[in-house]
Amino acid sequence: MSTSFTTSSARNVFYGGTAFFVLLFAALVFQTESDIPQRDRREMLAQNPQVAAGKKLWENNNCIGCHSLLGEGAYFAPELGNVVDRFGGGEDGKATVKAFIQGRPAEGIPGRRSMPQFNLSEKQLDEIADFLEYVSKIDTAKWPPNIQG
Ligand code: HEC
Repeated sequence: MSTSFTTSSARNVFYGGTAFFVLLFAALVFQTESDIPQRDRREMLAQNPQVAAGKKLWENNNCIGCHSLLGEGAYFAPELGNVVDRFGGGEDGKATVKAFIQGRPAEGIPGRRSMPQFNLSEKQLDEIADFLEYVSKIDTAKWPPNIQG
């Protein structure tokens, strides 16, 4: 047993294994990179000015300072990547998101974290809701694992 596994076979296992996993890694990176444009629906963002305007509002109002979006961001307030689905999906979900944002802050609930009032116009609320609907349609391979985010 000890004589059959020589220094040169150890070297071959090392070089062969390294080459195999480097190639596997390169193939997986290539596959992911070619999948992403379909999964994140970038064209929806580029071709829909309403969604793009919502993204700007999202950034300018620093929503990410409290919320996470698809896991990225702050963990003070709920994940919003799937909030339109959580609130019923489609037009109903969007209407509920708008009403929620308009109705803040919710006063008089002791111990509950509260969201400030942003004084957004009806048009801006529509844009934010369309942006959040767009995010909910990104193919995240079923992440987050449950509707609560
Ligand atoms: C200062 C922190 C803060 C900022 C900034 C903030 N939020 Fe919130 N948001 C919260 C908190 C806290 C809650 C949960 C409040 C509650 O349930 O009453 C919440 C809840 C929500 C919900 C409902 C989520 C759910 O599942 O119940 C939506 C939608 C929302 N925020 C959208 C936004 C948008 C859009 C922006 C940016 C314009 C924003 N938030 C900025 C703190 C914040």
